[in-house]
Amino acid sequence: MNGKVVIIAGGAGVQGRVAARLLADAGATVVLADLSAADLETAAAGIEGALAVPTDISDPDSWQTLVDRTLATFGRLDGLANFAAVLSRAGAETTELAVWERTLKINLTGAWLGVKAVIPAMRAGGGGSIVNVGSVDGLVGRGGGTAYQASKGGMRLLSKSAAIEFAAQGIRVNSVHPGPMKNRMTNVVGPKADASGIATLEAKLTAQVPMGRLGAAEDIAYAVRFLLSDEASFITGVDLPVDGGLTAQ
Ligand SMILES: NC(=O)c1ccc[n+]([C@@H]2O[C@H](COP(=O)([O-])OP(=O)(O)OC[C@H]3O[C@@H](n4cnc5c(N)ncnc54)[C@H](O)[C@@H]3O)[C@@H](O)[C@H]2O)c1
Repeated sequence: MNGKVVIIAGGAGVQGRVAARLLADAGATVVLADLSAADLETAAAGIEGALAVPTDISDPDSWQTLVDRTLATFGRLDGLANFAAVLSRAGAETTELAVWERTLKINLTGAWLGVKAVIPAMRAGGGGSIVNVGSVDGLVGRGGGTAYQASKGGMRLLSKSAAIEFAAQGIRVNSVHPGPMKNRMTNVVGPKADASGIATLEAKLTAQVPMGRLGAAEDIAYAVRFLLSDEASFITGVDLPVDGGLTAQ
């Protein structure tokens, strides 16, 4: 990743922070983008040369500011890893319209706006790599989480469509799909969950994974880093599940 400048959207989140560290360790210059300036400051601390830019990925002007600041600071843009997303859990019958619209606006429209915003800079630099972080929930149906599933499924095809559109310009677009993650527990069972509630859910999710464990942020970050790197230079339009075999069943 030496010499490459990479934007990490959702860079203050659990997976985004780990990816930022691994990318920086591999020589990349990282630009962290997320909603909260304070969280970004914490995430950027300890990563030498990192730039933090408060960003709302559902807003095209915010994306433009992010790209402009990246170019003004580092003069080029080689990669975008988009981790930013919100979760919604209600099913098709119970999802409220406002929740549907917010979920789609951030997870899907936001991902599209990101592609649209970075393409000119990547093209000007002779190429680039975009990695959208989806979910196994965007690959197979689960029942419930309807807006989230629709948004992640849409992101998957957004990535493939853009992969074809920009292939001849040396810009690759792929998606990585995390399976059940270790860090999700407290989110899913709620802030009041006790240790036994978390352990029960963890055991239930683990039992669904053929490899018999939940994912770690590093598992996702390694896959993202590979797809951003030149080692993946002939790979575009690919869905890469990182799920311990969950969706191979
Ligand atoms: N954690 C899991 O179990 C799991 C499983 C499958 C897929 N995923 C996906 O992996 C990715 C990373 O998840 P995570 O576990 O790090 O979650 P996280 O909640 O820790 O990180 C997501 C980040 O996105 C940011 N964000 C939300 N809306 C935004 C907006 N409008 N503009 C900018 N930033 C915004 C949040 O502030 C947060 O920092 C997400 O796309 C998620 O859907 C997670």
